[in-house]
Amino acid sequence: MTIDRPDLLPPVPAGATRVALLGDIVGKTGRRAARAAVAPLRRAGVAFLAANAENASGGNGCAAREARDLLNAGFDALTMGNHVWKHKDLLPLLEADLRVLRPLNFPPGTPGRGHASFDLPGGARLLVVNLIGRTRLEPTACPFRTMDDLLAEAGGPGPDPPPDATEPRPAVLVDFHADATAENHALRWYLDGRVTAVLGTHTHVQTSDAEVTPRGTGYVTDIGCCGAWPSVIGFDPQPVLAKYLTLRPHPYVPAEGPGRAEGAVLDLDPTTGRCLAAWTIRMA
Ligand SMILES: [Fe+2]
Ligand SMILES: [Fe+2]
Repeated sequence: MTIDRPDLLPPVPAGATRVALLGDIVGKTGRRAARAAVAPLRRAGVAFLAANAENASGGNGCAAREARDLLNAGFDALTMGNHVWKHKDLLPLLEADLRVLRPLNFPPGTPGRGHASFDLPGGARLLVVNLIGRTRLEPTACPFRTMDDLLAEAGGPGPDPPPDATEPRPAVLVDFHADATAENHALRWYLDGRVTAVLGTHTHVQTSDAEVTPRGTGYVTDIGCCGAWPSVIGFDPQPVLAKYLTLRPHPYVPAEGPGRAEGAVLDLDPTTGRCLAAWTIRMA
């Protein structure tokens, strides 16, 4: 179900924690739309708010200044994707700031980190993972086996938490930056019951398949983008059309105009790490 105003979300259930991830932020209009979404989402009870910022600077990559501006605007964490290396001045931030993540399954020795643990209200922890797919993207380590390794080390909700469990299990939120819907679907099956949520980014086109599986994993194939609308995935249609009509490269330019912020909101049980409810959001 897609919500177009956070105040239409139901109240956060007793004992639950509400978290949100916004889709790829595209350029200045996207940054403005993402910043404008912070206050309404917080008023709707969102305790942890992240965004994918891989297109935040001029539509390609995220420079240190834009990353800092987004963190200062109220985002608790920023994830990235295939454009993460565009701005070299992000490297020191990737190394020093735990809130700025790049895909986990990049080669060993890659600067920065692909996951980080955050405090939730009440003392629970949320592990945020940034993962990248392998279909029509650079070859990387297997995202499926990378998650096996990480969950073996960090734990997770587990398929069947014992009813008398007293130790909180970590909630695990995966931003899966992937190009093929089948690869997103496959990861949803692979991690079903093992993570709190698998949320897709990268295509910039929001899908209408938000669900919570019977084993407690929230899922959306792609949560969309923050950018100008109308546009072509947040970019000015003219250079994109020129590219397709001439088959020659034309640099994509972020579209200007009215912006909208898209993403997903989840309610989770911080004791079991299970997802309780999932919505996509589209805020004009
Ligand atoms: Fe993107
Ligand atoms: Fe991407």
